[in-house]
Amino acid sequence: MTTMKCIQYHRYGGPEVLRVEDFEPARPGPGEVLVRVKAAAANPMDWKIRNGEMKIMTGRKFPRGLGHDFAGVVAAVGTGVTRLGVGDEVFGGASVKAAGAFAEMVVAEEKAVVTKPANLSWEEAAAIPVVGLTAFQALVSTGKLRAGQAVFVHGCLGGVGRAAAQIAVAHGATVGGSCRVTAVHEAHDLGIAPIVEFDFDARKLAGRFDVVLDTAGTLPVEAARALLKPGGRIIDINPTPAKFVRSALPGPYRVLMGKAVVEDLEAVAQAAGKGMLRLPVARTVPLGKAIAALTELERDRTPKGGKLVITTE
Ligand SMILES: NC(=O)c1ccc[n+]([C@@H]2O[C@H](COP(=O)([O-])OP(=O)(O)OC[C@H]3O[C@@H](n4cnc5c(N)ncnc54)[C@H](OP(=O)(O)O)[C@@H]3O)[C@@H](O)[C@H]2O)c1
Repeated sequence: MTTMKCIQYHRYGGPEVLRVEDFEPARPGPGEVLVRVKAAAANPMDWKIRNGEMKIMTGRKFPRGLGHDFAGVVAAVGTGVTRLGVGDEVFGGASVKAAGAFAEMVVAEEKAVVTKPANLSWEEAAAIPVVGLTAFQALVSTGKLRAGQAVFVHGCLGGVGRAAAQIAVAHGATVGGSCRVTAVHEAHDLGIAPIVEFDFDARKLAGRFDVVLDTAGTLPVEAARALLKPGGRIIDINPTPAKFVRSALPGPYRVLMGKAVVEDLEAVAQAAGKGMLRLPVARTVPLGKAIAALTELERDRTPKGGKLVITTE
């Protein structure tokens, strides 16, 4: 196997631990695929894992690769892989434990990889898996969203928020949401109404929504409850130990940790293929210059308005 480039780190820490280094891609194990990466996209989980915030799941083995979302071409398959073959154009996510999508090659579980819709560029496809899957599982699998219902998305212009708004509309639901006041026009363009600021008064929208998705993890539970219609559901995607306890109690509140379910990723791919799900790409950088861009994203939360995408050629 030839040597390739990747972004990796040798201890948990801030962005200063990141390096572009040579590595030898692993052979795909049983149920895994090796993908030649064309484009990869950044998510907040990249820096949370690198900081060591999830080391209970990610362990202490170094060097560790960075990044989850990718689009590319299957280069090899492990034993037992039947759905995908060498040469397939795919997109998907590397597992939380393995990561490593910010690289020329990545190994991922077959269940976390599906065929790339032909009408999406590599960059557009790479921007979708983590946020699309999370939004789908929040609204559809956990929120049990049905046509004609109303959804409220707190943080409706983040990656998960944008994906959720579009998936809700694709399911025949209406969408309200909160965003920064300077970005209201973008929420308007996504068909979101009503649009409120992050610190809105929930009493003014009381009893109007079937599903409340808190993408930022900052919505007070009382406010989320006030928004709900009877029988509605609240989904929070920013877990803490206290939130897991609350989530285990009877009632409308659930914490969600997205997971690789191939049928869900297929549904996300189908929505993207029909033009019903797009994540704007706000900035594209080559792998060799990506560490500076990733540092800026983490520190300044820029670029706004879409995803940071890393390309390999
Ligand atoms: N549980 C899971 O499986 C899972 C999966 C994916 C993501 N997540 C987590 O979910 C969060 C969102 O992910 P993402 O990819 O959507 O991130 P993102 O693209 O960075 O979006 C975050 C959004 O939250 C908004 N925001 C900032 N401060 C806010 C506040 N006080 N109230 C409401 N919204 C606020 C931001 O607005 P501005 O840009 O205007 O500041 C931005 O639109 C991250 O913490 C991520 O780690 C969890």
